Parts: sequence; structure tokens; C-alpha cells
Amino acid sequence: MTKTPIESAILTIFGITGDLAARKLLPSLYYLFQAELLPKNFAIVGVTRSGTTVDKLIEKIRTSVESDGVSADQAILDHMAKVIRIVEMDLTNAEDYTRLKKELDAVEDSHGVCMNRLFYLAIPAQTFAHIVGLLAHAELNSGCQHGKAESRLLIEKPFGYDLASAQELIEQLNTAFSEEQIYRIDHYLAKETTQNILTFRFANPLFKAAWDNSLVSHIMITAAEKIGIEGRVAFYEQTGALRDLIQSHLFQLMALVTMEEPKELGSDAIHREKLRLLEAVEPIHADKVANIAVRGQYEGYREEVADPHSMTETYAAVRLAIDNDRWRGVPVLLRTGKGLAEKATEITLVFCEKPGAETNSLTFRIQPNEGIVVSLQAKKPGFTDEMQEVQMDFLYRNSFVGIQPDAYQRVLVDALKGDKTLFATSEEVLASWRIVEPILHAWSISKELPTYEIGSWGPSEATNLAHNAHIQWPMDKITKNFMRSM
Ligand code: BG6
Repeated sequence: MTKTPIESAILTIFGITGDLAARKLLPSLYYLFQAELLPKNFAIVGVTRSGTTVDKLIEKIRTSVESDGVSADQAILDHMAKVIRIVEMDLTNAEDYTRLKKELDAVEDSHGVCMNRLFYLAIPAQTFAHIVGLLAHAELNSGCQHGKAESRLLIEKPFGYDLASAQELIEQLNTAFSEEQIYRIDHYLAKETTQNILTFRFANPLFKAAWDNSLVSHIMITAAEKIGIEGRVAFYEQTGALRDLIQSHLFQLMALVTMEEPKELGSDAIHREKLRLLEAVEPIHADKVANIAVRGQYEGYREEVADPHSMTETYAAVRLAIDNDRWRGVPVLLRTGKGLAEKATEITLVFCEKPGAETNSLTFRIQPNEGIVVSLQAKKPGFTDEMQEVQMDFLYRNSFVGIQPDAYQRVLVDALKGDKTLFATSEEVLASWRIVEPILHAWSISKELPTYEIGSWGPSEATNLAHNAHIQWPMDKITKNFMRSM
């Protein structure tokens, strides 16, 4: 389908009074207005069940912007106050969707142009299927009233709870919106440092040639968080670390780091290669789960969620293998945890010619201290032959002066443009569930759940995953000496 050149848009946010809207979406829109990156004809419709006012939303935006340490620009806030409308709805009532449609038609009439209709569901995933059904019933899935512009649906994970529920959700959504219209947000894909992975891999011949099992001994992907579950008890109790971070964000990072070079850097070609990679991950045998997956729970979690028997993992680590010519034999270690010592997301490739020989490593620092670090062996100065590991580092903030757009700004701009490169496809989502399914099953019956201290680096059992594969996997993040460059 060729993309409509229409840029004018109405962004309807379901859950305008919620946490995501307050923390991410509204502040991102403020910054996009400031950077003049939004279309000339643009309106925001905030859907609420509980009621709010434009003034209250503007105050939330002001507070959020000022918490970034800058004073909010009153002219932008005034402009936003003019383009935001609130629609109070009972989300289960079909008539309210007809009212919403009238509201959107009226916005369009006031602009005098056809406008794309974007529906951002910033609400719990359990409500998606019902809401999209009612949107379609009110014909809100078919573009503008003159049939010229598109309707697009933006949804946040979780995209299902396991393979079967993901499949069911996809089918339910597809009864109302085609795959082409659905934008599955994975905010990790929209991080600047993530976007640089493909550029780094394919535009630097120096590294391109070394990117396979002839030199890479193993790959380590870490997403450590200091925070706990921050009051999201119901969500987290159903989710856990494996689903929350590994099945989604970390698999996407793994795919970008290991996929084959796409024919061109366009959305379809990139998605095709990512899917091929995810499908090449070796299936995990049910009786091998204990060898390749470890979970943990931080101390005090059960009191926090008021369930003395909770088996939800706040830490998960897995070791995967990719069955293709490029990566056969290279273990890929992934781990994530809440309540850990530091916030850090990084991807490291370790290069080594043969077991026991010297190594180099290359780390993408996704966040914080965004950058790329290469460790090299150097001869220590003086009358010695001794070697020492040294680091070459590239820090975004030293090389690129200016604001890096936040991931949600990127998500919104791309969805407005109709560019799906940084969104997950249904096939990628299903392939990712297929990989973790045996682990989810094994954990649902196992009683093994080591605990770890808040502020530590998680359960020591995780290092077994590396020992079993005869590789090193430090408990903590890899670029620990990096702080000196700050
Ligand atoms: C979300 C998870 O997708 O990502 C959260 O649901 C997690 O539990 C968050 O805290 C981490 O995102 P970031 O961008 O802070 O690393």
C-alpha cells in the first residue's frame, strides 16, 4: 500500500490522565511543538473516563518539563492548551465512540483538511480488544470523514502474556485494524543509541568483517534497573522480568545486533531480517531450561506486593544460541533485573581468536553515558612486556552537541509520518514469545526462585549460565571503569 502523503493528524490518546501520558506522551508533545516537528494541522484529543481539564493537563506538562531542569515556555503551553480537547467517555459504551467520531469530524472541519487519525491506547492491554472493536464499530478505523486519510492504532506492550494470548490479541486487533495500521511501540527501538546499532554495524568496515563466529566468542546484553516495581503491582505480578524486558526489548536489541544486513535500510527489509534472526534462535528444550535460564526475586518483593507466595521474578537471565552460519556456537547471554546496583543497558560482543587467548570487547552503551566502548590490549609503558586492557570510548554527549530526542518523541514523529521501522511487527512478537514459551512453562511449575539483595547485581546463580558455557560473564555491567570519561 502506498503511503498517503497526508501529514495533518489528530492524535487521540486513550488514558490521557494516566501515568504514561503524564510522564512521557504530553512532555514529548511539548518538546515536539518546541522543535516545530509536528504538522501544521495537528490536534490532540484526550480521552478520559474520570474527567480532567485542559488546564490540569497543561500544569502536568509544566511540572514534567520543569523537572527536566528547564523552565517551560509559556507560549508553547498556551498553544498546546488550544490544540488539546478532552472527551469524557465510558469506554464500554458504543454510543460514546460515535460521539468521539463527531468530535474528530468537528476538529477536522475546523482545520478544513483531511487529517490522519491516530489512536494511542495508553491504557491496560486487557482493554485493547474491546476498544478496537468499538472504534471499528464507529468507523473510526477507516481514516477521515472524506476517506482520504488513514487511521492508525498505537499500542504499548504487553502484546499478550504468552504465545497463545499474543496470537489471540493479534487476531482480535486484526478484525478492526490491518497489520499495516498497527504500530506496536517498543520504546527501546526508538532510543537514539539503539538506532545507531545498524549504522555502526553496516557503515564501519573495520568491524563488519569481525561480526561472526570466527571472532566473536559471546554476546552479553544487560538491562539493569535500580528501581523496583514502583507501585505497578497488578501489572508486574502478571508480567515479571522475562516478559517485561527480555521477551520484548532485549530480544529486539539482540535481533539488531545479530541480524544479517538488510538489502536496504528500509522498514520492510529490516523487519524481514529481524524476523529471520528471531526464528533462527535455537528452540529451548523443556528439560534444558534449568541450564539456560535463571530467575530471581529481590528481597522484600513479596511484602511489597502483599503476597507471601508470589513467584514473580524481578530478575531473569537466559543463554540463547542462534542456529545460523554467522552465529552458530556463539552463546548470547541476556539479563535484566529490578532493584539492582545501577541503571545500565549495554550490549557487549567479546572477540577472541581461540579459547584462552586475549580478548577485545565492543560495548554499545544504550543508556546512560550513551556511547560505544572498545576495549583493546596494550603494552604497558616501560621496560616490560606486560599487557593491560585499555578502553577507546565514544560518548554521544562529547561528539554530538544538542538535544537527543527522547524515545517517545521519536515514536510519535514516526507514527505521524507512517514510518514503521521502529515498531515491532506481529510476526516478531510471535517469534519472541515462541523463544521464551518453554521457560515460562518451566517456571510456572518450578519452586526455584533465588532471592537477591536490593542494590546487588542479582542472584549469583546467573553466572552458572556462563560457567556452563565456559565463558566469562561478570555479575555487574561490563563497562565499569567507564565513569572516568565523564
Ligand atoms: C518498560 C518496562 O517497558 O521499560 C518497565 O515495563 C521498565 O518495567 C522500563 O522499567 C525501562 O525503560 P527504560 O527506558 O527506563 O530503560
